[in-house]
Amino acid sequence: MKITVVGAGYVGLVTGACLSEMGNHVVCVDVDPRKIEMLNRGEVPIHEPGLDAIIRRNAAAGRLQFTTDVAAAVAHGTIQFIGVGTPPDEDGSADLQYVLAAARNIGRHMTDYKVIVDKSTVPVGTADKVRAAIAEVLAERGVDLEFAVVSNPEFLKEGAAIDDFMKPDRIVVGSDNERATLLMRAVYAPFMRNNDRLVVMDVRSAEFTKYAANAMLATRISFMNELALLADRVGADIEWVRRGIGSDPRIGTHFLYAGTGYGGSCFPKDVKALIRTGEQNGMTLGVLTAVEEANERQKLVLVQRVVERFGEDLRERTFALWGLAFKPNTDDMREAPSRVIVAELARRGARIQAYDPVAMPEAQRVLGDVPGFSVVPSQSAALEGADALLLVTEWKEFRNPDFDAIKAALKQPVIFDGRNLYDPALMQAFGIEYRGIGRNQRPQLPA
Ligand code: UDX
Repeated sequence: MKITVVGAGYVGLVTGACLSEMGNHVVCVDVDPRKIEMLNRGEVPIHEPGLDAIIRRNAAAGRLQFTTDVAAAVAHGTIQFIGVGTPPDEDGSADLQYVLAAARNIGRHMTDYKVIVDKSTVPVGTADKVRAAIAEVLAERGVDLEFAVVSNPEFLKEGAAIDDFMKPDRIVVGSDNERATLLMRAVYAPFMRNNDRLVVMDVRSAEFTKYAANAMLATRISFMNELALLADRVGADIEWVRRGIGSDPRIGTHFLYAGTGYGGSCFPKDVKALIRTGEQNGMTLGVLTAVEEANERQKLVLVQRVVERFGEDLRERTFALWGLAFKPNTDDMREAPSRVIVAELARRGARIQAYDPVAMPEAQRVLGDVPGFSVVPSQSAALEGADALLLVTEWKEFRNPDFDAIKAALKQPVIFDGRNLYDPALMQAFGIEYRGIGRNQRPQLPA
């Protein structure tokens, strides 16, 4: 099939690449000429395991093309995926200007039937706005062309996006047009047996589903983070509690990890946007508002532990920081807890020596100006002369480090573990003072 993907960002590239892998002829269009030149040279502007190989293979086979030529790109695909950014507005609602600009471009250049697919995360009602924008441009042109607008939210996880796309749990399609539904079924048929994972529903429900999914997941995380803080006070270990509750199939084992709070490009933005949608519809989403507040609080927990241990004045202190990205297998620093942690430590005068396997260039870009912050080339370089180690992102290579070497390098053998990677008993055996999230077992209950 002929497919156009508008936006060569994270969602657009993964979508375009994976669709071309199934034999579709895909044209990816973006307004940023530098990005398109890079892609045409075979360079991939984002870090996503497996993406480079798929892009190179399909580009070489002529099935995947990159262009800035909007007219040619619109002419190409019967199906037009919109995968452009929807950054939060000042008030938290999703900014639709790029989505609507893409819609108008399609209206301006289309000459035959098109299915326009909203892949970007957009609030309920956006498909109607996209439809209206296209209809308006068509009316200005004085042409009458048939088209359908479909919602098809993505559920990709950064770092696992290729796998998520190729082997989806479910594919949600919101459509009220039979021909469009038929085409969407055909697009996704190669990714599953018997179309059994395709959930077709009305457009508004599909748009809502994406926010509901992310809000539910964010809620689980904030809830566990809050329980972890209480666990510390009552002397319980949240890791045991997690296992104890996760074995109930109604709860399930995923997304129950207490940590330094959620970050990334989706949860913070989507939680805010759904709260805003509530307000616009005369409702306060109390649960979700608390989820967001708990997350902001959680980003500060590691710093609070440091302050408890070393005092408010950190001017003579140096901290090793392992992990900067908001999660492993990505260089994404958007809303990363490390940003708050670094800023708060620096505000108290501390020096921070940070290491991350892939996010250091990105960290340098967003944190480079913070006084006292530097990136260093290795895990061990971060430890040199440091007072303590803070573990912020759970990269695999941090899981079983040389604890003797850590102990020898640090001025005091203290680990603040924001991801609960280490076993407190093992840390004790190594003679390391260990502070996890919700596993400190320091009873603070009134006698
Ligand atoms: C998320 C959704 O999972 C995905 O379906 C959606 O399409 C986009 O948003 P992503 O942002 O890539 O994907 O990251 P994810 O792996 O879901 O993690 C989000 C954040 O939650 C990370 O900061 C992570 O550290 C945190 N998290 C996750 C926890 O703190 N505890 C957990 O148990 C799970």
